[in-house]
Amino acid sequence: MTLPETPGRQLTMDLMASVLQQMPDPTGGGYVGVFEREAAKAFGAPYAVAVSSGTAAIHAALAACGIGPGDEVLVPALTVVMTVAPIAALGATPVFIDSDPATLDLDYDDAAGKLTPRTKAIMPVHLWGRMGDPTALTRFASVHGLAVVEDAAQAAGTAREELGAGTVGTVGCVSLKDGKIISSGEGGFLLTASAEIAEHASAFRSHWQPAPRGEAPQSRLATNSRLADPLAAIALANLRRFPALLELRQAQTRMLLEAVDHVPGVSELVPAVGEEWNCFAPLLRIDLANPRGFAELLASQGVPSSTGSFRLVPCDTRPMFASADRMPCRGAAQILDHTIAVVLTERDNEATLERYAAVITREARAWVG
Ligand SMILES: Cc1ncc(COP(=O)(O)O)c(C=O)c1O
Repeated sequence: MTLPETPGRQLTMDLMASVLQQMPDPTGGGYVGVFEREAAKAFGAPYAVAVSSGTAAIHAALAACGIGPGDEVLVPALTVVMTVAPIAALGATPVFIDSDPATLDLDYDDAAGKLTPRTKAIMPVHLWGRMGDPTALTRFASVHGLAVVEDAAQAAGTAREELGAGTVGTVGCVSLKDGKIISSGEGGFLLTASAEIAEHASAFRSHWQPAPRGEAPQSRLATNSRLADPLAAIALANLRRFPALLELRQAQTRMLLEAVDHVPGVSELVPAVGEEWNCFAPLLRIDLANPRGFAELLASQGVPSSTGSFRLVPCDTRPMFASADRMPCRGAAQILDHTIAVVLTERDNEATLERYAAVITREARAWVG
């Protein structure tokens, strides 16, 4: 098996040359608007708002949903700290819910048990590009009157029941950080069908200017999380290459998964029936003794992964959120302990993937825990 050719980076070079000629431009330049229009169309959402990171997209989205002090937000423990930090930054309280090891989806029984009159929103996190059941999500949110802020940072290109990740909820947040399938070094954007939320997020990212209709510019305190025009130009070029970049990531992931197919103690974590998975990261279920130790050994041998390299742990166990009064989210811990999500980029070629497969095979056969 060989990887498909991806269109070259000439478009990126051309757009960068054009943006550099126009700089410095205190008005901010024109590529952000073009990127927003094309991103909205590509993802099938009425509005896209570009910001400086995926974290900033989540922050602006929660603010636009009216989340603030005293509110509670249901968020899976199966996530990175970047999902949760904006909840705390707005003065709201993250309430951690568990995930189901069989599906990686939210544990809705656990979520139901944690609802209070202060619960205002639920944040599904499509970690590793897996998006969970959109019908169960919308039913739960509508029965309980919650806003849905999707963390689709890693999920551009995933769909289920013909619904694209990031377009199921009130607002969806995507990261453009390098390593994501569409990237611009740093950056992010949010998707929404609500003009009100788009206006609020646009105001929020730029010190409340332009203000939403009916409000005066700079009449509220906000922040600067604008996407710089040179990064918008890179994002635009990569958005136009998105179908090819997605096809490449899917081929890379399939290639690695097939190459480790018969390795003892290592198996593929298959997507749900009907899920069109973007194949963000090859997902390996590890049934060996001390699976985290195994992930760390692979990282030391040059196979990067979320648990082995970045020591990803359930967010409810991080020191700033840990609490002795609360049961830990055991499903999330079980998933993270036994899963290796291999980190890929557009630059990983056949030789890299063959090397990763050889290391995984060799070390799994020799592993004693
Ligand atoms: C699941 C998830 N949420 C949020 C973020 C935050 O995105 P960014 O790094 O662009 O701020 C990331 C980024 O790595 C992520 O993987």
